[in-house]
Amino acid sequence: MRTPFIAANWKMFKTVHDAVVFAKEFRAVVKEATGVEIVLAPPFTALHGVAEAVRNSPVAVAGQDMHWEREGAFTGEISAGMLKEAGAEFVIIGHSERRRLFNETDATVNRKAVAALGAELTPIVCIGETLEERERSETLAVLDRQIKAGLDGLTGDQVASLVIAYEPVWAIGTGRNATPQQAGEAHAHIRSRLRQWFGAAAADQCHVIYGGSVKPDNIHELIVLPDVDGALVGGASLDVRAFAEIVARSRQSAV
Ligand code: PGA
Repeated sequence: MRTPFIAANWKMFKTVHDAVVFAKEFRAVVKEATGVEIVLAPPFTALHGVAEAVRNSPVAVAGQDMHWEREGAFTGEISAGMLKEAGAEFVIIGHSERRRLFNETDATVNRKAVAALGAELTPIVCIGETLEERERSETLAVLDRQIKAGLDGLTGDQVASLVIAYEPVWAIGTGRNATPQQAGEAHAHIRSRLRQWFGAAAADQCHVIYGGSVKPDNIHELIVLPDVDGALVGGASLDVRAFAEIVARSRQSAV
């Protein structure tokens, strides 16, 4: 049985001050939360402050991206070791905004995933099709390519520890979430490929979470699907009450 996994992707929102205020308030709201993994991914500047604010609570912290090298002349970049030292346990890799706006490819996703695992950070690897790809009935082929290339060379044990976020690009920030049928089909497909390529144990343990316009009022219909293990939440995670409600409904739905 996989524990529900709910992550907040704050993108380029919140100053250090706003992020720490959120973390302290949120921590008080979810202090009794058991049976759920909760992760906040603030901008890099706020990572350390948020990690301090949620220390010894059920809440963990993630970076939103990283470089695959340990260090070097890469102006503007940040390494897995730096994220880890700042207090992160997770890192989002290959978000569709990074793929679309910053030329992230399956090959760089793969290098980052390998480097993250090497630094004992758990990657949250994002995959998902664009609207054009869905309309051309290429969704499953796109997912296959992203899984195969993005996770190339990983062992079954490594894949077992991963979080994969299925985020249809057309559902991100649009208010238009995938229907339970669309999400269910994609998640079942991802799970079956993980089984085929990395073995039954990896497929059974890997968290496959859904992202794209998740809100308090649609989390239930998604999290009850057998292959949906949680959510990566953007817009609705910027508000303490809304995000806490998503966490609470995930826990209730899971029991
Ligand atoms: P959204 O973003 O919840 O605002 O659609 C999700 C994401 O980009 O991870």
